[in-house]
Amino acid sequence: RQEPRDETKEKGRAQVSADIAKFNAAQAALDFVKDGMIVGLGTGSTSAHFVRLLGERVRQGLRIKGVPTSEATRNLAEQAGIALLEISQVTSIDVDVDGADEIDPAFRLVKGGGGALLREKIVAVASKSMVVIADESKWVETLGAFPLPVEVTRFGFALTLERVRRVLRGTKCAGDEVVLRTSGKSNEPVITDGGNYSLDAHAQSIPAPEDLGAALKDIAGVVEHGLFLNLARTVILGQAKGAVIKAHESF
Ligand code: 5RP
Repeated sequence: RQEPRDETKEKGRAQVSADIAKFNAAQAALDFVKDGMIVGLGTGSTSAHFVRLLGERVRQGLRIKGVPTSEATRNLAEQAGIALLEISQVTSIDVDVDGADEIDPAFRLVKGGGGALLREKIVAVASKSMVVIADESKWVETLGAFPLPVEVTRFGFALTLERVRRVLRGTKCAGDEVVLRTSGKSNEPVITDGGNYSLDAHAQSIPAPEDLGAALKDIAGVVEHGLFLNLARTVILGQAKGAVIKAHESF
């Protein structure tokens, strides 16, 4: 007799194996950190593995300073014993290690699922090199299946949301649904570390990420969007055992 499928168990197993892959990616990224470096510390579950592992290295004697990309990461890094710098104290960051929601073969990213895209982008842009760590499910042919996060001012957000929809249509995205990110039972809008709202743009497929990114930046009320273009130099895709390291050919 065939046992009935237990979907909860299957989901649990998939989550555990994704988490092992995230851990393996984070571990492989340690090789990119050298003594004396200033290191951008990303946000999310994969970055959290990296921060804890980096903390272990610091306890073993590695001398680095971290620049966190969110208050959550700041707390985690403090617990891990990593010395931190404010972004205002640095002119340049040696290496930024951060996760991603999607990565395409041109190393273009969708980020911001964890709501930290503004600080993540400021840190990535200030870094000499960006190393992306992710489980291999994040590698996609075309960006857009994961809803694109867009950080917007609270003032006039409904108007901004409509403009974002128009821009999705104008840049030939497959979908144009845009929703305000909320949480909790009472569906309160999520407030970012920067005090803004977050929209999730269900583009489904983004045929021209550069065009979409430029058009979003042009909307008054958009603070930043989650397309990270021309920033990642290295992508580390964690697997059940070990990780695959990909280097961008033009860097
Ligand atoms: C947070 C991010 C994260 O890097 C992204 O959401 C990936 O998260 P995870 O490592 O938990 O899969 O962009 O704003």
